[in-house]
Amino acid sequence: MIEFKHVPVLLDEVIDGLDIKKDGCYVDCTMGGGGHSSAILSRLSKKGKLIGFDKDDDAISVCKERFSGCQNVTIIKSDFKNSPNILKEMGMAGQIDGILLDLGVSSYQIDSAERGFSFLHNGRLDMRMDKSQDLTAFDVVNFYSEKQLLKILYEYGEESNAKNIVKNILKARQEKPIETTFQLKEIVEKSFPKKVIYGKGGVIKQTFQAIRIEVNGELEGLKECLQNLIQLLRKGGRIAVISFHSLEDRIVKNVFKDACTDCICPPKTPVCICGHRAVAKPVSKKPIVATTQELQKNSRSSSAKLRIIEKI
Ligand SMILES: C[S@@+](CC[C@H](N)C(=O)[O-])C[C@H]1O[C@@H](n2cnc3c(N)ncnc32)[C@H](O)[C@@H]1O
Repeated sequence: MIEFKHVPVLLDEVIDGLDIKKDGCYVDCTMGGGGHSSAILSRLSKKGKLIGFDKDDDAISVCKERFSGCQNVTIIKSDFKNSPNILKEMGMAGQIDGILLDLGVSSYQIDSAERGFSFLHNGRLDMRMDKSQDLTAFDVVNFYSEKQLLKILYEYGEESNAKNIVKNILKARQEKPIETTFQLKEIVEKSFPKKVIYGKGGVIKQTFQAIRIEVNGELEGLKECLQNLIQLLRKGGRIAVISFHSLEDRIVKNVFKDACTDCICPPKTPVCICGHRAVAKPVSKKPIVATTQELQKNSRSSSAKLRIIEKI
C-alpha cells in the first residue's frame, strides 16, 4: 500500500461547518488520502452516504483500500468538474447534505519527488495530478511560446519578474531540454537578485505554482463547477471550499457572494434587470483560517481559507 502522508487542514472547522447529519449524503470532491472523508464518515450512520472524487490514481487506490469495508462509500476517479453531471446521473440532485472541496495538491503529491511538483525534491518535471493526461510540466516549460509562458507566470504566479524568468527559460532550453525540477529551480533562481530569492516572497514557489495550475487546468471551469454543485444541495445543505491561493479564493468568494445575493446587476444599474435570487446564505461572514495551534503543527495550513455557504 502507498504511504500517503497528508494532514487534513482545518479538519474541525470543516466538520463543524458542514453540520453533518448522521443519515445525510456527503460529497468529498477532493478525497486525497481520505482525511476529511474519514472524519465525515465517522459521523454517518449506515444510512448515511459518502461519495468521493479525485483524479489522482494514487489517491483513489489509497481511499479504496482505506474505505474497503464501508458499504456506504462510493469512490469515483474523475476530475471534480465532472461531478455535477455524475451526481445528477446518480440521481443525487437535491439529495446532497454537504459538499467539500479541499483544492490544490496533497502533501503526498508535493513530497513525492517522482511526481515532479516541488522545487524541494529533484524529479522529472511532471506535475500531473492525473497521470493519464498528456500535458506535463515538461511540455509547458519546453514547448510553450514566450507569450504563453509570460501569460501563465503573470496570471497564475502573479509574478512581476516573469520577463526575466521566461527569458532565462528560453535561453536554457535552446541549449538542452529543461528536464528536472532542480534545473527549473536553478533557472528561476538566476532570474532574481539573491536577497529576493531567499527573502519572504517565495518566488520559486510562485513559478512552480503557476506551471502546476496550467498543467492541471486548476482554475478552468471552477466557477461553473461550484455554481452547479450548489444547485445539487438540498435545502439546508452546505458547501465548504478550502483554497490555498488568492486566485482560487477569489473565484470561490465571488461564486458564494453571487449565490447569497438577490440582485447581481452591475453597480449603479437603476432597476434590477437580472432577476437573480439568492439560493444560499453565508455560514460565516469571513473566511475561516487555521488556529495558532494548527499553524504550529501543520505549516501547510498557513495559506488555507475555508468558505462555507448553506442552501436556502
Ligand atoms: C489538498 S488534497 C485533499 C486532501 C484531503 N482532503 C485529505 O484529507 O486527505 C487535494 C486533492 O484533490 C485532488 N484534486 C485537485 N484538483 C482536482 C480536480 N480538479 N479533480 C479531482 N481531484 C482533484 C488532488 O489530486 C488531491 O488529491
